[in-house]
Amino acid sequence: MPYLDAFERPIEYLRVSVTDRCNLRCVYCMPEEGVKFIPHSAILRYEEIVRIVRVAVGMGMKHVRLTGGEPLVRADIVELVRQLAAIPGLDDLSMTTNGIFLERYAEPLAEAGLKRVNISLDTLRPERFRRITRLGTLEKVLRGREAALKAGLKPVKINVVVVRGLNDDEVVDLARLSLEEDWHVRFIEVMPLGGGVHWAGDGVVSMQEVRRRIVAELGELEAVRGPGGVGPARYYRLPGAKGTLGFISPVSDHFCFRCNRLRLTSDGKILPCLLSNKYVDLRGPLRKGISDEELHDIFLHAIRIKPWEHKPAEMIGEEEVLPMSCIGG
Ligand code: 5AD
Ligand code: SF4
Repeated sequence: MPYLDAFERPIEYLRVSVTDRCNLRCVYCMPEEGVKFIPHSAILRYEEIVRIVRVAVGMGMKHVRLTGGEPLVRADIVELVRQLAAIPGLDDLSMTTNGIFLERYAEPLAEAGLKRVNISLDTLRPERFRRITRLGTLEKVLRGREAALKAGLKPVKINVVVVRGLNDDEVVDLARLSLEEDWHVRFIEVMPLGGGVHWAGDGVVSMQEVRRRIVAELGELEAVRGPGGVGPARYYRLPGAKGTLGFISPVSDHFCFRCNRLRLTSDGKILPCLLSNKYVDLRGPLRKGISDEELHDIFLHAIRIKPWEHKPAEMIGEEEVLPMSCIGG
């Protein structure tokens, strides 16, 4: 049984950022140059991550998602997946990736025990893809997605961060993909974190607006059970569609009341909430040689201080929060 936080929410989902580095520089996530990365010595080693996850799973956190930065840029990531997948009680091991390296890694990841992937993909237009990611090639992501499907890393969900003036004119085209088999497309409001700070405000397109545009062009949405997963998206189906659509409004829609997650940053901080700068350090105690019981107690403390909800949208920018590439979404 998972632990309950102070508001009786079961905490059963741990997102683990394995690196703050990335092979892309998406405009809403990172600056073009001068990104300050966490020094290697401060990044958790694999044996440290495995130990932390083992304790977390022992506490009932049975869903684990690997994130970044970009998890596939970290050396020997397949080995980490293998070790994590072997932890008894870990039901669901998934990854969020930009997909660039998936063509190479999908098969070995699946073989090592990864269950499924989410792929970040904000546009279907090659030039625009380059403009948004600054360094990426759309074709590689599409081939990566095919490889993931072939390897059985299903369902593959696509994450679309919607930014006004950047890709909001494409939401209908992206939604149309869900008519086909194996396309699960989720739209996400851009958040005021890291590079995203500049896009918050004018750049935010509400999910109500995204839905309205989709419904006007493609027809009514039917609420359905999602394609698996334990996150905050609400899922829908277009008339006759084989895949699903999801809408995630981290800022405007209060799904805090059913938030079931903690985050572990690549330098070993537990974050009880994405939009707060409160954290609990694990790396320090871990490297001082604490026992598993003490590790358990630190986790429990992080669960207990999980806030009821994040601040109202207009207040979020006021406090210095970690950039998205450190938190992993
Ligand atoms: N707002 C919303 N989503 C973001 N992501 C990165 N930066 C932001 C932001 N500022 C998304 C990525 C990825 C997920 C991990 O987080 O596109 O899908
Ligand atoms: Fe990299 Fe993801 Fe940030 Fe893009 S959004 S720069 S792919 S970490």
